[in-house]
Amino acid sequence: MKRPARPAQAPFTLLGGLSVDEFMTRHWQRRPLLVRQALPGVRPPVDAEGLMALAADDAVESRLVSAAGGRWRLDRGPFEREDLPSLGRKRWTLLVQGVDLHLDSAHELLSRFRFLPDARLDDLMISLASDQGGVGPHLDSYDVFLIQIQGRRRWRVAPPGRSGLIAGLPLKILADFQPEHDWLLEPGDMLYLPPGWGHDGVADGPCMTASVGFRAPSRLEFLREFLAQAADDPAGSDPRFGDAGRAPVRQAAAIPSDLHAHLRDWAQHWRPSSLAIDRFIGRFLSEPKASVWFDPGKPISLAAFGKRAATRGLRLDRRTRMLYRGSAVFINGEHVSPGRAARPWLRRLADERTLAPQALANALARDPELGALLHQWTNAGWVLLGETGTPRGASQA
Ligand code: SIN
Ligand code: CO
Repeated sequence: MKRPARPAQAPFTLLGGLSVDEFMTRHWQRRPLLVRQALPGVRPPVDAEGLMALAADDAVESRLVSAAGGRWRLDRGPFEREDLPSLGRKRWTLLVQGVDLHLDSAHELLSRFRFLPDARLDDLMISLASDQGGVGPHLDSYDVFLIQIQGRRRWRVAPPGRSGLIAGLPLKILADFQPEHDWLLEPGDMLYLPPGWGHDGVADGPCMTASVGFRAPSRLEFLREFLAQAADDPAGSDPRFGDAGRAPVRQAAAIPSDLHAHLRDWAQHWRPSSLAIDRFIGRFLSEPKASVWFDPGKPISLAAFGKRAATRGLRLDRRTRMLYRGSAVFINGEHVSPGRAARPWLRRLADERTLAPQALANALARDPELGALLHQWTNAGWVLLGETGTPRGASQA
């Protein structure tokens, strides 16, 4: 069947008048893009006090970088309020990771970037800097959209190439940073940087910057997890080496050739099934950050769940990662293979992150499997009742 032509994509304020297609072709993973007023009138997802309060939470990853007296210093959170310098003191930055996991307002900012796959999304980091604060010229291995939220920050940007670092510092700072661009960002401006571009952001007066980061697994990162998990799989067959009939040896320390050949053969010919690989990929990509802990709250019965879902609708908890591929659905590192009737609903929930009550009422009445899955995920705290609202029992551990 002929596929329908893709609708022309309207230019996008967020991308400075470029369509999403143009941005993806010309800039994504290729070259930086500065967008003036990408988010006009942007409201800070959190104020300075709120960000400092998050940095006091031991479930939140935070860092304090300072360069007082020209010497770089890095401290890791949590930070008590009194550990943090005043905004009147120059040259410090507080960086708080994963703010989207804690605040709906921050999660909402991320939702503007869903022209990119959720599987590539990492998190929203927010930094608060005093005048002249920054983390020095450095490279990131991730794509990042740097959004100026409050105050001004000067960004100098260099193409990939010179990646040598200054030795002996607590931070990775480029030894030979030769910027080609020099931009002063105002609130609402945004700078996209592909991986490997050198950048140095220095606060021009106290300021706040949000970074929307995209993750890309490296081969070793992926294989480390995959092999560890395959080794733990109780369902996998686990033959053992045997050597009945072995002749006595004269050199006891020599590795026997048959043992060596057998182990080498296992390593060279280890072939997990395609199904096992596919399932692992989905689980790996939907795994929440290590700090995320869902509080199941008080369980509700299937009948009560059905009634409430049909009148209030459902949404994914902001921390839930839900993906799909083929007939499989992956949620928070787990896999399900739902029947045909449930599949479109689960895909819709994953794509839109909500399900409206009217449509849901019909679907739940027709498909008990859909109801059972959504009920189970609601009791786990992964899915929340109501299309909008404050998450039930949301917490980090
Ligand atoms: C910052 O927000 O200060 C640093 C962000 C970055 O350079 O990656
Ligand atoms: Co960076």
